[in-house]
Amino acid sequence: MGLGKLLMKPLSGYPGGYKHMRRGTQGFDQTPPFQQPDDPGDRRSRIPSTGYREYWYPALPARDVRKDKPEVLRILGTDVVFFRDTRVEVQALLDWCPHRAVYLSMGRCYFEGFVTCPYHGATFDGDGNCVAFLTEGPDSKMAGAPGMKARKFPTATIKGMVFVWMGDGEPVDPQEDIPPEMFEPHNIFRPVFTMFDCNWVLVLENTMDAHNAFMVHRNALRILKSRLGGRPRTPLGYRVNIVNNKNVHYRPGSGKSSVEKFYEDENGKVPYQMYYPGVGGVWPLHRWRLMWTWIWDRKAKKRGQGAGRLQAEQAADTPDVNEWNGTRLPGMSRTGGNARFFRSTRWAVPVEDNLTRMVYLNVERYSQPPTIFRRLWSTATWPYRNWELNFNFRNQDYDAEKYVQYDLPEYLSSTDSVVVAMRRLFVEHARDVQRRRAMEEELPEQLEETEAEIMVREGDARVAAGNESFDLTKLEEELLRRV
Ligand code: FES
Ligand SMILES: [Fe+2]
Repeated sequence: MGLGKLLMKPLSGYPGGYKHMRRGTQGFDQTPPFQQPDDPGDRRSRIPSTGYREYWYPALPARDVRKDKPEVLRILGTDVVFFRDTRVEVQALLDWCPHRAVYLSMGRCYFEGFVTCPYHGATFDGDGNCVAFLTEGPDSKMAGAPGMKARKFPTATIKGMVFVWMGDGEPVDPQEDIPPEMFEPHNIFRPVFTMFDCNWVLVLENTMDAHNAFMVHRNALRILKSRLGGRPRTPLGYRVNIVNNKNVHYRPGSGKSSVEKFYEDENGKVPYQMYYPGVGGVWPLHRWRLMWTWIWDRKAKKRGQGAGRLQAEQAADTPDVNEWNGTRLPGMSRTGGNARFFRSTRWAVPVEDNLTRMVYLNVERYSQPPTIFRRLWSTATWPYRNWELNFNFRNQDYDAEKYVQYDLPEYLSSTDSVVVAMRRLFVEHARDVQRRRAMEEELPEQLEETEAEIMVREGDARVAAGNESFDLTKLEEELLRRV
């Protein structure tokens, strides 16, 4: 604290003055409480705040589940207890004893393969059957009583990671929900867990929002390397598709026109600073990063790609039928296009309205077992790679997205087309919605467009019209004049 401030303190009459509790009891830099609009014409009102349930979700590393003690995890607002059954496989039950409803997770595994409730000793097997009731002796009628069945959640352990089916309906094949590289035999899998103090939907809605790149990430290490990294885009939204009720990703052919991605002329030259007439100034404010970016730009050129164009080209090459790119239900965002060597899935697992467990499935892909040298190199470099991608870069998104006040009005631009598509993916295509709809099929009036749906459709039309009002050729010509 400066001397001046220190002297002023007693004069302000109250420690901290107006700055103390400037945002009331909510911390100055704390996430606002998650609230949704109540207007049914706003798709945000129809997204379940603790996520879609008819899916597989990553839970925890199997090695953390001991034989003698259960482990607990809150997933989708539900407490799930994990323990090992008689085959030493990880099983999951609702953290609830059917007798008097205490937490099973506070109990112990006195008998290998079973979990015992800490209150009256009800003991359950991997399927949730009560097999003994210790305090009533071996003759207890509680053992085997149908009403004493604990609620079971199906599990699948893949590459040492326990996945759990959170739905009420029939579980799908885990391969439908878990990224394909998790099933390839020789890959090195490096899971990372981190917590975000905000709702899962705020995380997801950020991931394909490319227009935050030059604001949020301008000082990320990977962006600092290139003069093109995280450039402002043109006012043209990414063209996106919803694929097979599963994901939103760039439409094939997106980025064919240069203006669809970046401000650049036909030689691929991108202006570093641009003039914004409304403020009478240029952005970015300074040119200092150009002192070193030429090193990486040259490298990128050698590889035959402008660094900034990499993503666009990958998107253009990606066939429309690929269901494993972009934003994927129930909470994944996948980076790296179809990268052959490394794929990272950023999986937002809802915990509570204002808490999300981020599970990063980092996978290095190998077509045959990697050599010992490769393994050593990978392990030695991983701490840095992990920090650069999963913390330095991704936490910047978190620092911005957590302040979204989800219940307040918003005014979307043409570049929010991805956000619109994602919300459509959620509220119309999620498995929960599909299954519910299949059950209601007999009632034709349910299928008619509701007033809310009409309102939503009209809102979309405005965003789409924003995009269509741009004449690509004209925009290109105008940008050329500006360079
Ligand atoms: S509450 Fe679990 S045994 Fe009584
Ligand atoms: Fe971002």
